[in-house]
Amino acid sequence: MNIVLCGFMGCGKTTVAKLLAARLNMDCIDLDQYIEQTTGMRVSEIFEKFGEPGFRSYERHAVSAVCKTNNCVIATGGGTVLDAQNAVVLRKSGVLFFLDVSVDTVLARLQNDHSRPLLERSDKEQAIALLLSARLPLYKAACDYSINANDASPENISEKILGIIKELDK
Ligand code: S3P
Repeated sequence: MNIVLCGFMGCGKTTVAKLLAARLNMDCIDLDQYIEQTTGMRVSEIFEKFGEPGFRSYERHAVSAVCKTNNCVIATGGGTVLDAQNAVVLRKSGVLFFLDVSVDTVLARLQNDHSRPLLERSDKEQAIALLLSARLPLYKAACDYSINANDASPENISEKILGIIKELDK
């Protein structure tokens, strides 16, 4: 079984995935990094060259490749589970956790970040609010467990997830 983390940009998926993998002695795969390594392009470059549809196509291929592995903590990208097929494949491969964050949390964390093409708008707050409200129901529908990740450190979040995993193992 894998542990899969999903949620909006800036929710902490990558950091928490590394912590969990270290604690559980599992491998860690970050889907965006996997895409960058296998294509030899940065995510922003893929968006520039092929647009969002091109990126989503690479992302779908990455999901089916990565889900063939076992015993991995997988950090998805913020849009990965919005694709119904991706959500099904990821759910089948393990337990899916949604790290739930508010607009304010995302804005505070990504105010000065320029690596997310979808947030490169003059009004970043509005871009986050619009995308997050459209995506929230889909994250909730896709996941097995939802974790409030607003006022919690990555260590706290990882502890919460470890607690749930332990219960599942009983
Ligand atoms: C995206 C999130 C990004 C990356 C791409 C698209 C999204 O990943 O996959 O820029 O649609 O939310 P992070 O959530 O790791 O930033």
